[in-house]
Amino acid sequence: MARFRVRHVALCAVFVVFLYHALPRENGIPHLFYHAGGGGAPNAGTSELARYMNDPSHVPRIVATESSFSWNTVKLLKQPALTPKLPAPVTSRPRIQHHFKPDSPHVAAKQEQRRQAVLGVTKKAWAAYREHAWMKDALKPLSGQFVDQFSGWAATLVDSLDTLWIMGLRDEFYEAVEAVAAIDFGKSTSYTVNTFETNIRYLGGLIAAYDLSGHEVLRAKAVEVGDLLYAGFNTDNKMPVDMIQFERAKEGAGLVVEDGVVSASPGTITLEFSRLSQITGDSKYYAAVSHVMDLFYEHQNETKLPGMWPMMVSMRREDVVSGYQFTIGGNADSLYEYLPKAHALLGSADPSSKKYEVMSRTFMDTAMSNLFFHPMIPGDEDILISGNVDVLGTGPSLDPESEHLSCYIGGLYALGGRLLENEKYLDAGAKLARGCAYAYKSFPSGMMPERYNMVKCPGPDPKQSCTWDQSLWVTEREKRTQYKDHLPLGFTTAKDPRYILRPEAIESVFILWRITGQEEWRDTAWRMFEAVVKATDTEMANAAVEDVTVEGGGEKTDYMESFWIAETLKYYYLCFAHTDLVSLDEFVLNTEAHPLKLSKIQV
Ligand SMILES: *[C@@H]1O[C@H](CO)[C@@H](O)[C@H](O)[C@H]1NC(C)=O
Repeated sequence: MARFRVRHVALCAVFVVFLYHALPRENGIPHLFYHAGGGGAPNAGTSELARYMNDPSHVPRIVATESSFSWNTVKLLKQPALTPKLPAPVTSRPRIQHHFKPDSPHVAAKQEQRRQAVLGVTKKAWAAYREHAWMKDALKPLSGQFVDQFSGWAATLVDSLDTLWIMGLRDEFYEAVEAVAAIDFGKSTSYTVNTFETNIRYLGGLIAAYDLSGHEVLRAKAVEVGDLLYAGFNTDNKMPVDMIQFERAKEGAGLVVEDGVVSASPGTITLEFSRLSQITGDSKYYAAVSHVMDLFYEHQNETKLPGMWPMMVSMRREDVVSGYQFTIGGNADSLYEYLPKAHALLGSADPSSKKYEVMSRTFMDTAMSNLFFHPMIPGDEDILISGNVDVLGTGPSLDPESEHLSCYIGGLYALGGRLLENEKYLDAGAKLARGCAYAYKSFPSGMMPERYNMVKCPGPDPKQSCTWDQSLWVTEREKRTQYKDHLPLGFTTAKDPRYILRPEAIESVFILWRITGQEEWRDTAWRMFEAVVKATDTEMANAAVEDVTVEGGGEKTDYMESFWIAETLKYYYLCFAHTDLVSLDEFVLNTEAHPLKLSKIQV
């Protein structure tokens, strides 16, 4: 398909211009653009369409209003690291996506229906946000109220920009860009600003929307947020603070790094800062974060579980070794997620970026031998689950507890398998993604709990399957009596039985679909989507639910996280849309599902 597109670029452009004037319109945009999807549709080439839509005569003129404080004027007393320089663009990368053939008309029609269904749910949720919570951080989808929990810079709006673009909702997109132009990053509704959340939602959201649309306002606003976060590196040891004291940061006199933070916090800046350097030509963001990742790199093999880092680290003492709890799940997750992804974005040719490849291979080997287990289940599905490891006096001990947040790991191993050309990672990735899909379909609501336990297979290698032993399951379940007793076979707790609109399971299903091209993944995605919408649908939008262990998901909670539109709905949509739309060979997605553009490689 890539070859097809390259050869037919010129022809397509002419064709597209013709179509633009000839087609019936919806909100001023021809149908073809609006519905740029359908696995079997003749490939007019999504990027050609996107480029045409960027024709200046069709893009509203929007100019950014400068924030009330210019973050690029702060005189940083403790200058963050200024080297290394940003590496040259990557020139070769292994093929990531499957070589797709067009769907048969019958299959294409089915996928098109599914795509329309996701589009409908998204339009409804966006309309509700627009009506009830415009410019606020999040909508409360039962009461129609709102909350500002991320400093009040319209988190849901910024987080949704690229979803609107990808789904072809151009009028909604440009209306939102106009709103972005007026966001004041010089004021905050909170005394402190969370580095991690601001980075993944706001900075990631703005850069991705810029990468897709090329609109200058988005770049200007991304730089404002980038410079705000950069002020968080103004510390004695050049390590970033977890929480930025907003007014103090403006003075430039320096901030104090916290002693204990979760490892994901300092470990989840690489992609956004590196891409910001790429789109501005200013290496300072890349250098600042490279310095942080050097610390992780140097000590990766000195921890209690060599190859991984403890869940808690101290950036003040530069201690990333002494903790004893290890997980790829919550609190640590995107530290690991960003290693193969940074390798995709930055390559390994430069000494300063080589470390991402080395850290990727090392952690993937370690997690595979220590954290993953085959749960004891009735039936013979070949699945893996990722648990937690504590290393105390007696050595590593694997606790078969997992959570929805861990479900990104299947997709990451599949992606890593392709990037690092390692079949074992890809194989483990498919089993891990199937593990989460298995958990979804096991519960009466069709969704998996936020946190749960299973029984690991008892053999010497817990990754090997085992036969079902009902009495062992009952015994293990009895040990954990404080939790539910109406659990599906194989599960021993649903410690936290909520589903809060999270994306990680569908994220992995999406990546497996794009990498393997196996039909099972689209069908799995559809089954999950139907269950999720059935349980979370409200009059206005969608809400988190209290209890996936009962049919229907139990009571609803008056909250719709910004990641519902930013991530969950985007991943569902991309499962059914044309496989060139946000191709994994052209984009790498940050941990909030914001696609960052990869350099073009020679083919
Ligand atoms: C850590 O160990 C791995 C493999 O065991 C090795 O490839 C890597 O270079 C080591 N890292 C450092 C910083 O020495």
